Amino acid sequence: MVKTPKESLTILTDIVLPGETNPLGNLFGGELLARMDRACSIAARRHSRRIVVTASVNHVAFNKAVPVGSVVTIEAKVTRAFKSSMEIYVDVWSEDRESQERSKVNEGIYTFVAVNNTGAPVSIPKIKPETDLEKERYEGALRRKQLSLILSGKMNPADATELKALF
Ligand SMILES: CC(C)(COP(=O)(O)OP(=O)(O)OC[C@H]1O[C@@H](n2cnc3c(N)ncnc32)[C@H](O)[C@@H]1OP(=O)(O)O)[C@@H](O)C(=O)NCCC(=O)NCCS
Repeated sequence: MVKTPKESLTILTDIVLPGETNPLGNLFGGELLARMDRACSIAARRHSRRIVVTASVNHVAFNKAVPVGSVVTIEAKVTRAFKSSMEIYVDVWSEDRESQERSKVNEGIYTFVAVNNTGAPVSIPKIKPETDLEKERYEGALRRKQLSLILSGKMNPADATELKALF
């Protein structure tokens, strides 16, 4: 079976409450990471229809502070499916109360793995990107997977053919 990234699209909208902020009154980083992880796990589950676990958080950029009372929208989508693992891109937006204009405050790239009831990895459907952005993210995903595996000590840099092709 071949699926598309949009079938996994997950959108979570929530408000920032005082108990979720740091001493400056901005959203606590760990709270935002938890919300991003939740959105990514739903996207991974929608793609694979299996139990999914977070394998790695490959990139997170906290670009702008998010003050208490902000309405935050998190959008997650599977960019590429490998054998049992999936790369998920997550974008975070904050909404202005008066104009309702959205600005991007954060983004991240997560890897989830589909597992069976005993936690062993299982195969997942393939994915076919449709839009230009989806195609661009799909193309780069193998490089990012190899980098993540090297950084976690699970791959020998000499075997990272896709990464080596860059240099
Ligand atoms: C993620 C997990 C299932 C991987 O199990 P494993 O025994 O290492 O299995 P494998 O080596 O076969 O890896 C399975 C897949 O994950 C990928 N993977 C594992 N670690 C990865 C990492 N750090 N970055 C990117 N991909 C990774 C592998 O490349 C493989 O991908 P593929 O099947 O699509 O080719 C296992 O490490 C685990 O259960 N970790 C704990 C997960 C968890 O509890 N998360 C919540 C944390 S609070």
